[in-house]
Amino acid sequence: MAKLNNANELKELRQKLAQETFKPDALRARVCCGTACTATGAYKVIEEFKKESANSGIDLEIVKTGCQGICQKGPVLKLEPMDIFYQRTKPESVPWIMSYSILGNMPYRQGLYRDNFLSEPVPVMTDVPFYKKQKRIALRNNGKIDPCNIDHYLAVGGYAGLEKALSSMSPDEVLAEVDKANLRGRGGAGFPAGRKWKHTKSAPGSIKLVIANGDEGDPGAFMDRSIMEGDPHSLLEGMALCAYAIGAQYGIIYVRHEYPLAVKNLWIAIKQAEDMGLLGKNILGTDFSFTMDIREGAGAFVCGESTALVASIEGERGFPRPRPPRLSEPGGGAWGYPSNLNNIETYACVPVIIEQGSDYFLSIGTETSPGTKVFALTGKVKNTGLVEVPMGITLKEIIFDIGGGILGDKQFKAVQTGGPSGGCIPASFLDLPVDFDSLSSVGSMMGSGGMVVLDEDTCMVDVANFFLSFTQSESCGKCPPCRIGTSQMLKILQRITSGKGEPGDIQRLLDLGKNIQKTSLCGLGQSAPNPVLSTIKYFREEYEEHIYDKYCRANVCSGLGAFVIDQNECFRCGLCKAACAFNAVTEMRDRFIIDRTACTQCKACYTACPIKAVKIRKQRHVILEEVFKIPTEKIEVIDRRAKMNLGDIMKTKTSYELFAMTPGHKVTDAIKLMNDRNISAVMVVDENQKLKGMITERDIVRGLSKGAVFLNDKIENIMTREVITFTPFTEVSAAISVVANKKVRHLPVVDGDRIVGMITYRDLVSYVLPEIIYMAEDMY
Ligand SMILES: Cc1cc2nc3c(=O)[nH]c(=O)nc-3n(C[C@H](O)[C@H](O)[C@H](O)COP(=O)(O)O)c2cc1C
Ligand code: SF4
Ligand code: SF4
Ligand code: FES
Repeated sequence: MAKLNNANELKELRQKLAQETFKPDALRARVCCGTACTATGAYKVIEEFKKESANSGIDLEIVKTGCQGICQKGPVLKLEPMDIFYQRTKPESVPWIMSYSILGNMPYRQGLYRDNFLSEPVPVMTDVPFYKKQKRIALRNNGKIDPCNIDHYLAVGGYAGLEKALSSMSPDEVLAEVDKANLRGRGGAGFPAGRKWKHTKSAPGSIKLVIANGDEGDPGAFMDRSIMEGDPHSLLEGMALCAYAIGAQYGIIYVRHEYPLAVKNLWIAIKQAEDMGLLGKNILGTDFSFTMDIREGAGAFVCGESTALVASIEGERGFPRPRPPRLSEPGGGAWGYPSNLNNIETYACVPVIIEQGSDYFLSIGTETSPGTKVFALTGKVKNTGLVEVPMGITLKEIIFDIGGGILGDKQFKAVQTGGPSGGCIPASFLDLPVDFDSLSSVGSMMGSGGMVVLDEDTCMVDVANFFLSFTQSESCGKCPPCRIGTSQMLKILQRITSGKGEPGDIQRLLDLGKNIQKTSLCGLGQSAPNPVLSTIKYFREEYEEHIYDKYCRANVCSGLGAFVIDQNECFRCGLCKAACAFNAVTEMRDRFIIDRTACTQCKACYTACPIKAVKIRKQRHVILEEVFKIPTEKIEVIDRRAKMNLGDIMKTKTSYELFAMTPGHKVTDAIKLMNDRNISAVMVVDENQKLKGMITERDIVRGLSKGAVFLNDKIENIMTREVITFTPFTEVSAAISVVANKKVRHLPVVDGDRIVGMITYRDLVSYVLPEIIYMAEDMY
C-alpha cells in the first residue's frame, strides 16, 4: 500500500478507485457479515456462492459488508446489478438464487422480503418498508463496503473530508463548520460537539487527545458497534478531523471487550490508514500528525461515563470523579491532558459535514436537532434492527412504518427510549417528533439510541424493575444515594411485583427517585430512577393495581391475582392439573377447578394451558362474579368508570347548559324555568356569578309544606345555602359516596370561583355503577 504524499495524490487515487471499484455492470453480492448475520450463517452462504460460481464459471464479486440494519431477517444480501434484496438466506437457497437471478435475471421469490405470509414479496431493498423512511449519514457506508478494505472506503468518497480540510481549510474553519452544523453529541446528552471542541482547543498545553466513546453499555444497543465493525474508517476520519480542528496529536478509541469484531476491524483500518499516510506522522505531507490507539474496557456500564472512562483508559478502576476539572481542561483528560470525548456516531457524522458543508447537515432534521439519529429498534415490533432516521420523524413512523407495527398485531402500549437512563413514553405521544428536546419534554431522553417497543402484554412495573435492576447492579458504589438508594427502590419494586406492595410504596419510590436524581455524583445515579418515575407518571394505575388489587393486568408478575379456569373455554385436557405442584387443581366429574386456598399463584397452570383457559383475575372481581353472579365484562366496565372523575362525565355530555338565577328572583320564575327546561334544580349566583346556593324541587316542596305563597316570594327565602361543591378532578367514587351520605342529587362543579358544570344523581347512575341504582332506590 503506497503512502500518499499529498492531498492531490489522495484525490487521484479516490477518483481511480471510484471508477474501478463497484463497476455498475459487474455481478456482485453484497453479503452482510455483521455480528447478527454472521451468527445466522452469512459465511456459509458466502462459501456456497463461491462454490456455485466456481462450478458454473460465473465471475461473481462478493463484498462482505457490515450490518445492513435489518438484523432480524439475516443473513441478508443484495445482488447487483439486478438490484435484488434477499433475506433469511440459507446456503441451500444459493443455487436457486444463482439460477433464478444470475442466469434468469429474475427474483427467487422464496428468498425475498414479505410483510407477512400472504403479502406480495418485495424484490428491491429500497421498497422494503424497513428502509423506506430511513436517511443514512452515520451508517452511509454500512452494507455497501467491506470494512477491511480501505479501497472500498476511498471508492465511495472516503477521506474526502480530510482531504478537503488539509488542502483548503484551516483548523479554525473546520471547527467553525462543525459548530455551525450544530452537531449534537449522539452519546446521550446531546451537547453540541462544536462547543466541546472549542473548550478543548482553548485549553492550555501543547498535548491534547481525541477520545471516542465506544463503550456502548445500554442493553440492546448496537449502533456504535455497527459503525466500528462495518465502517471503521468513517470513525477514524471523523476523529482525525477533530484532532486537526483542535490541535490534538493522539487519538484513543475506547471499546468494550465484548466487541471483538469491532476491535479487529478497527486495528485493520488503523494499520491501512497509517500505511497510506492518512494517519500517523505528517498526514498527506502536512505538519498535521495524529496517532491512534485502542483501549479495551472490561464492559462496565459506568465506564461509558466520561470521567470513569478516562480512569479506565489510564488503567485505573472505572470510578467517576467530580467535575471540574472537565475532560477538556488540564488535569481532566486522560493522564491529565485536555481531551475531547465524543461518541462513535458523533465522529462518524463529521466527514459528511466537512465534505458536504454544514448547510447540507442543517437541511436534515429539526431546527434544534439537525441531522439524523441511529436507533436500535427492538422489543415487540415486527422488524427489529438498526434504523437511521432524520430527526423530527414521529415515534409512530419509526414503530409502525419502519418497524412494521406490533408483533402479532397486538396493542401498542409504550416505547422505552434512552436505555436504562431513559423513560417510557405512552401511546398518547405516538405523534411526538423525535429529537433531543421533545423526548426530554415527555420525561424520557434520546440517550444513545435504544428504542424498546412494549405491547399490551408488558407489565410496566416489571419494565421499571428490569431497568432499575440493571442500573443498580452497574452502580459503581462510590456514592450512597446511588448505591443504597437504587437498591432500596429495587426492593420496593420487587415487593410490588411479587404481590407484597404496601400503601405508600408509590410515594416512597417518588421520594427516593427524586433524591437520588438530585444527590448522585454521576449521570448513572442521576438518571437511574428515570424508568421508574416515568412509568409512575404515565402508568400509575398499574402500580396501584399491583399494590391494592394484588393484580398484574399483563399477567407477567407471579404471586398476583386469582387463578380460575374458564369453564366455557376449558376442553378438559388436564394439563393444568399435571403442571400444578401444589395439588391446587382438582378434577371433578365434569370440570377442573382451582382451589384458591391451596394455590400459590405460581403460574405453572397458566403457562401449561394450551388454549389459555386458565385466567388470572382480580381477587375482588372473582368474588363479585362467584358470589353475586355479576359477569366479568360488567365488573370491568364498572371498575373503569369508578376510577374516572367528574370532568370525564362532563366531557361525555354532548351539550351542556347551566341555569342560574340571583337570590332576588321570584320563586315562580324558578318554577317556570324548571318546568320549561325539564330540570329539577337551578343554581343561585350573585352579581359576580359566584355560587351562593341552589334552589331545587325539594326546596319548593318544603316551602309549600311550610305554607309559603310563591307569587311574591324570593328565591333567597327558600334556597339551600350550604351547597357541597366539587371540582372536575373529584373522583366519581368520591361523588357517589357524597350522594349516598348527604342525600344530595345535584353536584355543582367549580374551578376556583368559576362554575364549570353540574352533575346530577342521574348522570352518576347512568354513567357509573349499576349497583348504585339499588343503593339509591333504597334511599329515595
Ligand atoms: C452511566 C453512563 C454511561 C454512558 N455510556 C455511554 C456510552 O456507552 N457511549 C457514549 O458515547 N456515551 C456514554 N455516556 C455519555 C458520556 O459520558 C459522554 O457524555 C459522551 O460520550 C460524550 O459524547 P457525545 O457528546 O458525542 O455524546 C454515558 C454516560 C453515563 C453517565
Ligand atoms: S452515581 Fe452511582 S455510579 Fe455514579 S459515582 Fe455515584 S455510585 Fe458511582
Ligand atoms: S397457579 Fe400454580 S399453584 Fe396455583 S393452581 Fe396454577 S399451578 Fe397450581
Ligand atoms: S448484522 Fe446483518 S443486517 Fe445487521
